[in-house]
Amino acid sequence: MTQAKENAALAALDFVEDGMTLGLGSGSTAEIFIEHLGLRIAGGMKVQGVPTSQRTAECAREFGVPMVDADMVEKIHLTIDGADEVDPQFNLIKGGGACLLREKIIADASDRMVVIVDSAKMVDMLGAFPLPIEIDPFAMPLTAEKIYAALLKTGCEAGQTVLRQKKDGSGPLITDGGHYILDSKCRNIPDPVATARALAAIPGVMEHGLFIDVASVIVVGEDDHAKVMELSRE
Ligand code: 5RP
Repeated sequence: MTQAKENAALAALDFVEDGMTLGLGSGSTAEIFIEHLGLRIAGGMKVQGVPTSQRTAECAREFGVPMVDADMVEKIHLTIDGADEVDPQFNLIKGGGACLLREKIIADASDRMVVIVDSAKMVDMLGAFPLPIEIDPFAMPLTAEKIYAALLKTGCEAGQTVLRQKKDGSGPLITDGGHYILDSKCRNIPDPVATARALAAIPGVMEHGLFIDVASVIVVGEDDHAKVMELSRE
């Protein structure tokens, strides 16, 4: 699996050009990309990155990738990020690493988003991976109830919604933005556009992990090569 992620990350470097400002995604695949980007920079390439999480900022620092603060950046040419699931229309589930709000802000502000995944992430229909939803902690059970209803109404086989916990078990996970994550076991999401719209309309939902019409390139890594798929979003 790691080799497949590495092959995807390496192939994504072909999209990077001197002078670019890059959105730097979060997660293990994005971190492999950042490590290789650091090697290119050490070899003379001139780019700067906008990190989508504190962890990614630490990774960029470690591998010598110059950073620009998200508050200061005027243009982002390209974002490279991983995903938890990708469907044939290039719709994504993201947020497995709890960074979906900042990832979506940066990807949406970019001219182009290149997604790097191993082939296990490619699905016919989104939803087997529990959908991460970033919510304000205030009145969490009321927001969770609205989410459950929205998922059912838009055709998901909505099951349990779980409040994500910290790995050390010391309480709910808090995102970089100070929010909770609810993981919704949808099982399938037959109409991602309708589900995305319904979730976005719920007060208390800061952002959901459905990335619709954002990615224009998917790089799928296998153990011995990577396949590049492109979609025109002109
Ligand atoms: C973080 C994300 C990640 O991109 C997603 O979880 C994939 O991670 P990995 O590359 O480790 O499989 O959305 O919020």
